[in-house]
Amino acid sequence: MRIVLLGAPGAGKGTQCKYIVEKYRLLHLSSGDILRRHRAQGTALGKKAQSYMDSGALVPDDIIIDMMIDEIARAPAGGYVLDGFPRTVKQAADLDKALESKKQKIDAILNLQVNEKIIVRRITGRRICPKCAAVYHVENLKPRVDGKCDKDGSLLLQRPDDTAEVVITRLKNYNEQTAPLVDYYKRKNTVFDIDANEEAENVRDLIFRKLAPLA
Ligand code: AP5
Repeated sequence: MRIVLLGAPGAGKGTQCKYIVEKYRLLHLSSGDILRRHRAQGTALGKKAQSYMDSGALVPDDIIIDMMIDEIARAPAGGYVLDGFPRTVKQAADLDKALESKKQKIDAILNLQVNEKIIVRRITGRRICPKCAAVYHVENLKPRVDGKCDKDGSLLLQRPDDTAEVVITRLKNYNEQTAPLVDYYKRKNTVFDIDANEEAENVRDLIFRKLAPLA
């Protein structure tokens, strides 16, 4: 299965991807996580992406498309879930071209829909482990020991783009540049609109019901 997760920043894409990849044994390809890995390793790509990411802007298409098409080409035959990519119509069209050249297509698009007030609470309360990238939330998903990762004990951090100010820019960019992808995909693929305002396990169950006929 090849799945794309669409949804505003903080909609819960990463959270739901973890459930999906575990159940269906797929590869999780998160463009945001891959970019953060490049930054942590100090690569040229990571350095180029840094200022865009911290200000809440999208990284330019040419950088992202090459990076993600390369990751997808190395994915196992079982399939993958794309999280955060594509994010512009240009990215989606280039992805389609790359897939068509291999006689492949995206099987399902999951469009996570969340009210903006909930999004702001989810993003500003998120904390991440800088070592293993585990995700927590100060209210909804607390670590066992306050401020420390359950898996490796590292001190949890707030992402630089998770402040209330940067969230406004990210949401604006999402509405202008990424939301049009829903119509792009509705013209040619199977798109499932998912009410993702509920708690994570309820959203997961809704997604599993939609994906069941495709598995
Ligand atoms: P990226 O890392 O992709 O960020 P994003 O899309 O803004 O998404 P988030 O990671 O913020 O949120 P999410 O939907 O995964 O939510 P999560 O599950 O963590 O991108 C970062 C930056 O990289 C971009 O701004 C851009 O600069 C660049 N970039 C990346 N891809 C790009 C591309 N294709 N093109 C150009 N630039 C690109 O959940 C959030 C919080 O809420 C967590 O704390 C979680 O525990 C909690 N939570 C989740 N679900 C629920 C629930 N149902 N109920 C209660 N709490 C919940």
